[in-house]
Amino acid sequence: MIIAIDGPAAAGKGTLARALAAHFGLPHMDTGALYRQVGAALLADGLDPADPVAAEQAARTLDLTRFTDPQLRTAAVGEAASVVAAIPAVRQALFEAQRAFALQPGGAVLDGRDIGTVVCPEADVKLFVEASPEARAWRRVAELEDRGEHVSFEEMLAQVRIRDARDSGRADAPLRAAEGAHLLDTSDLSIGAAVDRARAIVEAAIRRKAAGTG
Ligand code: C5P
Repeated sequence: MIIAIDGPAAAGKGTLARALAAHFGLPHMDTGALYRQVGAALLADGLDPADPVAAEQAARTLDLTRFTDPQLRTAAVGEAASVVAAIPAVRQALFEAQRAFALQPGGAVLDGRDIGTVVCPEADVKLFVEASPEARAWRRVAELEDRGEHVSFEEMLAQVRIRDARDSGRADAPLRAAEGAHLLDTSDLSIGAAVDRARAIVEAAIRRKAAGTG
């Protein structure tokens, strides 16, 4: 059972992915954290995330295992991640690790921007999680606030729009809903309600698979 979850920043992908992974007993990979680790490494070395040579070098040589490092969650690292993610050589360098994770026996849950379109087009279930830019900006402000980082709603909304434009407008693996993806708009849903809907979508897919019709 491979579950692919894509969508823009702060739509709720990570929360849904973790909940589904726990519920169905599957391993989970936050693929955005791969790009964030590359972006963070460049910033730490005083390098430009838009430098394709430095970014590819970092993507190929770093030991990318710091998935839960809180330092990856800052607004600056998110921005750097989205810049390195537009470089095709970086995407290529990170592809195999994602693919191998998805293909492990028993399956996996992966969340990102191109899981259903590029990394795992054959996924059993594809979810495209959306929310209005305003709802996403409020969530990010609250999330950063919890970590002691203060960003105004207006500034965050501008950042969300810039990130959306970059992620959707890039030539290589732009953010878009995969063919056959189930759309889930979380703008007006509580976390619990969004998880319930996602779980129902996966359960229906499991039933179709068992019946040989999906
Ligand atoms: O999801 P998160 O905000 O952590 O992702 C950070 C950035 O990494 C995104 O803005 C996007 O540019 C990039 N990314 C990507 N492909 C993925 C996951 C993340 O391009 N599969």
